[in-house]
Amino acid sequence: MAQVSLKNVTKIFPSGIKAVDNISLGVENKEFVVLVGPSGCGKSTTLRMIAGLEEVTSGEIYIGDRKVNDIPAKDRDIAMVFQNYALYPHFTVYENMAFGLRLRRYPKSEIDRRVKEAAEILGIKHLLLRRPRELSGGERQRVAVGRAIVRKPLVFLFDEPLSNLDAKMRVQMRTEIHRLHIRLQSTMIYVTHDQVEAMTMGDRIAVMKDGVIQQVADPMTLYEKPKNKFVASFIGSPPMNFITGRIIKKDGKLYFDEERIRVKLIEEMYPKMEAYLDKEVIFGIRPEDIYDKLFVSEAPPENTVRVTCDVVEPMGSEVYLHLNTGKHSFIARVGAYNRPPINQDMDLVFDMSKVHFFDKDTEETII
Ligand SMILES: Nc1ncnc2c1ncn2[C@@H]1O[C@H](COP(=O)(O)OP(=O)(O)OP(=O)(O)O)[C@@H](O)[C@H]1O
Ligand SMILES: [Mg+2]
Repeated sequence: MAQVSLKNVTKIFPSGIKAVDNISLGVENKEFVVLVGPSGCGKSTTLRMIAGLEEVTSGEIYIGDRKVNDIPAKDRDIAMVFQNYALYPHFTVYENMAFGLRLRRYPKSEIDRRVKEAAEILGIKHLLLRRPRELSGGERQRVAVGRAIVRKPLVFLFDEPLSNLDAKMRVQMRTEIHRLHIRLQSTMIYVTHDQVEAMTMGDRIAVMKDGVIQQVADPMTLYEKPKNKFVASFIGSPPMNFITGRIIKKDGKLYFDEERIRVKLIEEMYPKMEAYLDKEVIFGIRPEDIYDKLFVSEAPPENTVRVTCDVVEPMGSEVYLHLNTGKHSFIARVGAYNRPPINQDMDLVFDMSKVHFFDKDTEETII
């Protein structure tokens, strides 16, 4: 197994599109790193450069101690699992899994042992003689993963391997790949646009936007300490609410003021927020840090805001409230039995110890 490192890697396609812009990323031996970001941000291009399927315009890629820029894909000792599985339709499952080893002229007995071992791990032993068209989407996905496992590569690369599956199967396969990583103890780089997949699977997550890595961190750090507004909005569901307003001072205390909302900052925030006095900032609060005042035993009046609720969405284990201040709308995520009346005033409490502030111009995190 091996570590992978990217040093100032850039990819400019002949058409002039800069798909990847000077990214550096170190993946440790046995680590599971997820590249996540919206469509077109350069995730697949990054993975394909690591795999050797795409040339690097500038920068260096190392697998282990070896610089691989000029090493062809077949000699990089990586295995890649694609979104569309790319199985050979005329081959059986067994033959599909054996194919890569046959090409590399492994002895028959070794191929047989590895295919059966991988089939056992993935629970597809009973499918070995079927052809891909005789399999469900989830089963095909397992075969595609099996084909990667038999190679015992230094590094596994996954490019949105679950996106063709229905929601339930996706959750199941997500856990299986997670389990597989624990069992194989191998280095894995996994690309997805789904932040839930990223959060649940990654030891660390690299959030990308427009070809640039915005932040690399473990899931809870991304959630609690996003580096900028983009990361804050991308991680978490429903996403963080953003409200633009001013920092004002009254009787020596700092407040965030949006006309309809006025909440008091906690004192630990003063050193950083003093600089923004009388300036506009972006206030960020996650839906789970907002409470219905009726359900809060001691609600400080300076954290209370009056809003109307126009839609209530019961999710079973929780309820999403769509709220309006008259100027901004936002979402709260509250307890399952919390059903406020529609279109009437209600009071909310903000947990001010959990809120964030972002610079309005740079969108970088202030707090
Ligand atoms: N072969 C190519 N030639 C020219 N431009 C390309 C090529 N492949 C990708 N691009 C462009 O590079 C950018 C990044 O593409 P990439 O496929 O890496 O995105 P992605 O993050 O994987 O997106 P998705 O989530 O949609 O798969 C996009 O603007 C895309 O249009
Ligand atoms: Mg892609």
